[in-house]
Amino acid sequence: MKCVTCKGPAVIDIRRHNANFCVDHFFELCRRQVMKAIDDHSMIAKGEKVLVAVSGGKDSLAVWDLLLDLGYEADGLYIGLGIGEYSDTSGDHARAFATERGLTLLEVDVPGRFGYDIPSGSRAARRAPCSACGLSKRHLFDEAAIQGGYDVLVTGHNLDDEAAVLFGNTLHWQTDFLGRQHPVLPARDGFPRKVKPLVRLTERETAAYCVLRGIDYLVDECPMAAGNKHISYKLALNDIEKMSPGAKHSFYFGFLDRAAALFEPEAEADREELHPCASCGAPTTAETCAFCRLVDRAGGEVPHDDQPSAVPVVLGTTRAGAKQ
Ligand code: AMP
Ligand code: FES
Ligand code: ZN
Ligand code: ZN
Repeated sequence: MKCVTCKGPAVIDIRRHNANFCVDHFFELCRRQVMKAIDDHSMIAKGEKVLVAVSGGKDSLAVWDLLLDLGYEADGLYIGLGIGEYSDTSGDHARAFATERGLTLLEVDVPGRFGYDIPSGSRAARRAPCSACGLSKRHLFDEAAIQGGYDVLVTGHNLDDEAAVLFGNTLHWQTDFLGRQHPVLPARDGFPRKVKPLVRLTERETAAYCVLRGIDYLVDECPMAAGNKHISYKLALNDIEKMSPGAKHSFYFGFLDRAAALFEPEAEADREELHPCASCGAPTTAETCAFCRLVDRAGGEVPHDDQPSAVPVVLGTTRAGAKQ
């Protein structure tokens, strides 16, 4: 197996590109794909302050590493969700990555600050764990980005994630969701801009990137997500991809190029008037936002210590200009 560029020994074959790559040219491919996603969708301008949501998994550590390599100033944000040993280990991986590179990692500890964890909180609020978790993460990402004065919040969603969400939304013709499925959500109504620079890379590629770069990531999947539909959509798409390399890419990017705009007017019409939440000030359509209602029902499930909002944990030597 030879590298398509230098003919040296290849370490990875990527069937949808019909090519094999050596280590260096694979890194170059990853950087090029991230740059192309950023340029094509105007995700991040040079000089903007970037906050990367890092879970300790391969995707978010890879995107943080790639953005730093491409010259962006990027801090990290880790949310401790209190999912037992899984959360402890994921936090350790995020912290180790930051410490080794002297980066700034902001941390929010959900049990410590709000008095619930995902397992007990989702039961108390009668929500599925992934729904309570998603709601908590989205709210805390927005809060940390706005309060920290960041221009943009980055997540590690990759092509497999986005194609699986699109697959689910299409199977059920959730046209309002289809109108909002885009790798960039612009800043509006008090929400920060949110972007997904890994949409041109698959999870096999982000895993290979981490292994080859020596990035130690948490391999385990979240124990609460077992059996959810998103995972079965990913498996189904993997079967299709095996028979037809490039199918995921053309499904997702074909949608963005040819169909997404058709659904945008409906999503726009569905957008209700937003005003500040009476309790926390975040934008909401109701009197209090869904997150404050979750905290109302679930808070008190575990002891808490009134931790302030995103706490900067400055690990090692902070890079020049990094936010403290
Ligand atoms: P998931 O929703 O678990 O598939 O994760 C999607 C993206 O959300 C990841 O790539 C991260 O960017 C971010 N993320 C997930 N969990 C956390 C966490 N505990 N703290 C910070 N960011 C997270
Ligand atoms: Fe949120 Fe698993 S990471 S429920
Ligand atoms: Zn090569
Ligand atoms: Zn609120």
